[in-house]
Amino acid sequence: MKLLFIGDIVGSPGRDMIQEFLPKLKSKHQPHVTIVNGENAAAGKGITEKIYKQLLEWGAQGITMGNHTWDKKEIFDFVSDAKNMVVPANLPEGTPGNEIIYVKSNGLEVAVINLLGRTFMQPVDDPFKVADKLIEEAKKKTNLIFVDFHAEATSEKLAMGWYLDGKVSAVVGTHTHVQTADNRVFPNGTAYITDVGMTGPYDGILGMEQTAVIKKFLTGLPVRFEVSKESRTQLSGVIITINNTTGKAEKIERILINDDQPFFG
Ligand SMILES: [Fe+2]
Repeated sequence: MKLLFIGDIVGSPGRDMIQEFLPKLKSKHQPHVTIVNGENAAAGKGITEKIYKQLLEWGAQGITMGNHTWDKKEIFDFVSDAKNMVVPANLPEGTPGNEIIYVKSNGLEVAVINLLGRTFMQPVDDPFKVADKLIEEAKKKTNLIFVDFHAEATSEKLAMGWYLDGKVSAVVGTHTHVQTADNRVFPNGTAYITDVGMTGPYDGILGMEQTAVIKKFLTGLPVRFEVSKESRTQLSGVIITINNTTGKAEKIERILINDDQPFFG
C-alpha cells in the first residue's frame, strides 16, 4: 500500500496548495491513505472546525497535530468528535482528543500516532514510553502503523526513528518546516525522514512574513508574526510504500512542489 503524508499546512496559502495539488498528487501516486499535518492550518497556529472539515473534503483521511494544537480555542468544541484527527499522545492525562486513530481504506487499516518532542520544546511526557504503549495497542489491530513525531531537534527525531525501527511502518518528523534530504528505510523496515517540510508560503521564513522575523533577529524586540500572504507557495510531503501484511516499509520518496521544483503529473 501507499501512504501519502503532507507536512505542516500553514494558513490559507497552505490550504490553497492542498486544494489545488492534493487531487493531482492522488491521481499521480494513487495513495491508499492520505494524512496531513494540520497544526498550523488556521492562520499559522491551530485549526478550526471549518478547516478540519475542508481538509477532509479535499482528500485527507487523517489529520495530525502538534505543539499548536490548542491555539484556536474553538478546538475544544469539536476535538472530541473529530474522528479523523489525532492529537499528541504524550500530553497530560485527561487531555481531550484521540491519541490514536485508525484510517480505513480498501480493506486496510492504518494506525496513526502523533507525538511531541521534548528537546527545545515545552515540557511533555516521555514520547518514547508513550510510543511503546500505543504501538502495543495498535498491533492488536494492524501492522500498518504511522508515527508523526512533531519535534525540534534532529537528534531526538533520529533517536525516535531508530528506536521504533521494526516496530512501525514509518516515523516522519514535522514541526521544523524545512524538508530534510535524509529519507530512507531503516534496516528493520521503518521508513524515516527527519522533517517532511511545510506546505504554505515559499518566500516566507518557516511560513511567516520575512520582514517581521528579520526584525526580531535584528532588534530582539517583541514582533507579531503573520503568515506570509504575498509569497509564492510550496507543498512538502512524502510518499511511502508499505507491505500490506508485514507493515514494513519498502520505499519513502520526498515530494516538493514550488516554483523551482514544479509539479509534473
Ligand atoms: Fe509545530
